[in-house]
Amino acid sequence: MVIAIDGPAAAGKGTLARRLAEQFGLAHLDTGLLYRATAVRLLLDGGDPNSELTASAAARSLSTNDLRGPELLDEQVARLASVVAVHDGVRAALLDFQRSFAASPPNGARGAVLDGRDIGSVILPDADIKIFVTASSEVRAERRYQELRARGVHSIKSLVLKKIQERDERDRHREVAPMVPVEDAFLLDTTNMDADAAFEAAYEFVMLRQTSNGRNV
Ligand code: CDP
Repeated sequence: MVIAIDGPAAAGKGTLARRLAEQFGLAHLDTGLLYRATAVRLLLDGGDPNSELTASAAARSLSTNDLRGPELLDEQVARLASVVAVHDGVRAALLDFQRSFAASPPNGARGAVLDGRDIGSVILPDADIKIFVTASSEVRAERRYQELRARGVHSIKSLVLKKIQERDERDRHREVAPMVPVEDAFLLDTTNMDADAAFEAAYEFVMLRQTSNGRNV
């Protein structure tokens, strides 16, 4: 089983992806980490994120070890990730890794959940299940603010909101692989839902879809 989850920043994709992976025995890939790791590599090397050539070379040089580390969670890194993510060369460099992960999930998992912005549209257009998770930008900013606080990072809520809105704008309006809900995606608006309710709704959708496809889950 392959599940594609897309949606804007801090919509709850990661939490939902992890829970679905656990429920169904699937491997999980947070594809945002690939773009964040590319941004970190550029920061370390002093490379220009606006240069497609430099950013693509950084994306090509990544290894799985680069997908770990607290620096990936930084909000400045998230902003830079959305800057490098506009380049076709960067996205092309990261494509095979994502498709291979879904086709041959690690540790003998029986399938995979990938979350990001273009999973259902570009990376895995044939995914069995597609979910597009949204929430109002105010609610998403509040969630990210609380997440940062829990990690001991003190931020200003209005600034978190502004940064999220800027990143969403860039992700929605870029020319290559813009973030859009595909027609066959289940739209899950979590503005008034907690993580449990979002999981329940997604779980029901997966069960329904699998049953209608005549598959055992
Ligand atoms: O965790 P959050 O939703 O804030 O961000 P993320 O999923 O880690 O993604 C960081 C940035 O990487 C996004 O704002 C996108 O610009 C880019 N990204 C992308 O273009 N395509 C993906 N499949 C995943 C992330």
